[in-house]
Amino acid sequence: CKKRYVLGIETSCDDTGAAIVDNQGNVLGEALYSQLAKHNETGGIIPTVAKELHIQHVESVVRDTLSAAQMQLQDLDAVAVTVKPGLVMSLRVGLQHAQKLALSVGQQLIPIHHMEAHALTARMIDKIDFPFMVLLASGGHCLLAVARDIDDFLLLGSSQDSAPGEAFDKTARELNLFTLSDFNGLSGGAAIEKLAKEGNPSAFPLVHIMPSRATCHFSFSGLKTSARNLIKKEYQRLGTPTSELLPNAADICAWFQYNLMYHIGRKLQRGFIFAEMKNLLSTNKTLVVSGGVASNAYIRANLIHVASLYGYKVVCPPTKLCTDNGIMIAWNGMEKLLSGRNYFHDANTLDVSAR
Ligand code: KG4
Ligand code: ZN
Repeated sequence: CKKRYVLGIETSCDDTGAAIVDNQGNVLGEALYSQLAKHNETGGIIPTVAKELHIQHVESVVRDTLSAAQMQLQDLDAVAVTVKPGLVMSLRVGLQHAQKLALSVGQQLIPIHHMEAHALTARMIDKIDFPFMVLLASGGHCLLAVARDIDDFLLLGSSQDSAPGEAFDKTARELNLFTLSDFNGLSGGAAIEKLAKEGNPSAFPLVHIMPSRATCHFSFSGLKTSARNLIKKEYQRLGTPTSELLPNAADICAWFQYNLMYHIGRKLQRGFIFAEMKNLLSTNKTLVVSGGVASNAYIRANLIHVASLYGYKVVCPPTKLCTDNGIMIAWNGMEKLLSGRNYFHDANTLDVSAR
């Protein structure tokens, strides 16, 4: 059959990404500029800074993608671009560049929902039929859904406050992990995962998160606050200068990571029970776990264990595809193109939205 090519552009948060994929899920070219180092310096994402960095990099990221694929705009069947959810200022940079490209060759655009793209990335690697369950845990979101079709998601639960990745990042900063050169260039989550390997997860008591709520909703603010209070208390108790690393930082990392995993695991369990009750999945039960937090090997392994108790096969896209990237946007555009339905939108009138 005829080869199809889609270019995807992602700028919803702090990564400028682009990629070209074909209809068989091969990546022909990709480029990613990560703003992580900059945001680690300033202690978090400042939207105007993120926007400026996207402006500086979007053109070269797309150019590098095209040249890696040895392709020109005219060779593409479609351009797909993230339009929601995310930081409006950041999203707009990607959209405006995509509009420029599309208009220059007289094409329409395929608008992409960032979370849906995360959810369906696994289908680029494995043959996963609808319906399947998907858990997304990232720096901006936590949600559990049943993916029933390319554009049909049944949301079972989502975070009622902050996101797990954000809790990781905040806690890593409060622990002063970034003062260690070992952690240069790592995200808060990756830094905690690394140090947690040397710690004892039960060094401190379990935090009970939403114990009375019989829903699939998540909450991470309570854990974030508990971590902040514990860290403060340990600095006082041990007399460690607040600019230095606590001698028991590894224990705190292990404890934090365990609590976060435990909460997600409990909610997942609820999701499995609910799906069973409502007959939401076929006999072929698959759980896709994605998002930046899913690249945590400890959390992954434990969630795989929980899933196995309920007869689920777990699929985790490779780390590179779990975190934000252009490939997932290009692939989502490709799935939409191949569906035969019309997902195209007039490039001139397309807009972004935060949610
Ligand atoms: O999906 P992602 O790249 O971006 C969005 O938020 O959409 O996720 C980034 C988040 C960050 O908060 C980062 O700390 C977290 O994922 N993360 C991790 C790990 N690697 C990245 N969290 C826990 N363990 C990790 N190994
Ligand atoms: Zn994301």
